[in-house]
Amino acid sequence: ARITLRQLLDHAADHNYAVPAFNINNMEQVIGIMSAADAADAPVILQASRGARSYAGDLMLAGMINAAEAAYPHIPICLHQDHGNDEGTCLSAIQHGYTSVMMDGSLMADAKTPASYDYNIEITRRVANMAHKIGVSVEGELGVLGSLETGQGEAEDGHGAEGSFSRDQLLTDPDQAVEFVAATGVDALAIAMGTSHGAYKFSRKPDGDILALHVVKAIHALMPDLHLVMHGSSSVPEALQEEFNRWGGKMPKTWGVPVEEIQTGIKFGVRKVNIDTDCRLVMAAAMRRAAIENKAEFDPRKFLAPATKALTQLCRERFEAFGTAGKA
Ligand code: G3H
Ligand code: 13P
Ligand code: ZN
Repeated sequence: ARITLRQLLDHAADHNYAVPAFNINNMEQVIGIMSAADAADAPVILQASRGARSYAGDLMLAGMINAAEAAYPHIPICLHQDHGNDEGTCLSAIQHGYTSVMMDGSLMADAKTPASYDYNIEITRRVANMAHKIGVSVEGELGVLGSLETGQGEAEDGHGAEGSFSRDQLLTDPDQAVEFVAATGVDALAIAMGTSHGAYKFSRKPDGDILALHVVKAIHALMPDLHLVMHGSSSVPEALQEEFNRWGGKMPKTWGVPVEEIQTGIKFGVRKVNIDTDCRLVMAAAMRRAAIENKAEFDPRKFLAPATKALTQLCRERFEAFGTAGKA
């Protein structure tokens, strides 16, 4: 059944767990994630970026979610717009059956230029007013996602603010967060704490200096009932990098967000954990392997079936690690 982000995260808060939000673009991802949710008996957030919507087309995506709902009627599904950039994107998502939208007002509508605090409050409040009238949830974002190591607002293959930033700008200010939530009425808040999108988050295993969980703790202390969202939460496991490179991939050594750090976040109010890169990587490694192991193969299913299976395994591990398993 389809449920809102608010319904899902309220339940998660009551039972001290978090829900991974996996990005979807195609049928194999929807099937892979839903199989994992079914096996783990977990509720799930399926999220589509603007890129996903234009890749698959709104009707195709919506059709796949309807099919997933019919195939797994016992699994609560929240369909969420990832990084909505303006009111139009959020409204059209709602028209296509999304039960939750992210209005990312930390950036201007070009999704690159950092926005002023006033702009962020104004547009997020407008979207929340509109969405709440029709029972749809809203996620806002306060702070610039980016690397505390380099001060850059965008990882190599990530999305987000372009340019150089001070440490302060890359960390959400807890007092400002209180004001922002009160002024906008968001159901969940994405915060900046040193993570960034994509595979290249950290050049070493992150410690408290470059992955600022103290920001999560500070905000949770001020607003214990607020649902926090961690973006850029792929772990980019070493074993997965090795598997990808073993089959001809060329990924330079990198570090993501260790699962244990996310588990700490979950103790301090993190309820939604955004994961895209790990899903991409696990599928790409499996497709590479299938292509190398049988060079005569040309049936796409022979590449996509092992990729779907590998994705299911990865998602299952995250459902177990975040306490989502058994909560459907
Ligand atoms: O926000 C980043 C997500 O990983 C979605 O990426 O815009 O390439 O679909 P995308
Ligand atoms: P990753 O690139 O770490 O998977 O983050 C995805 C994300 O935050 C989508 O909004
Ligand atoms: Zn994100």
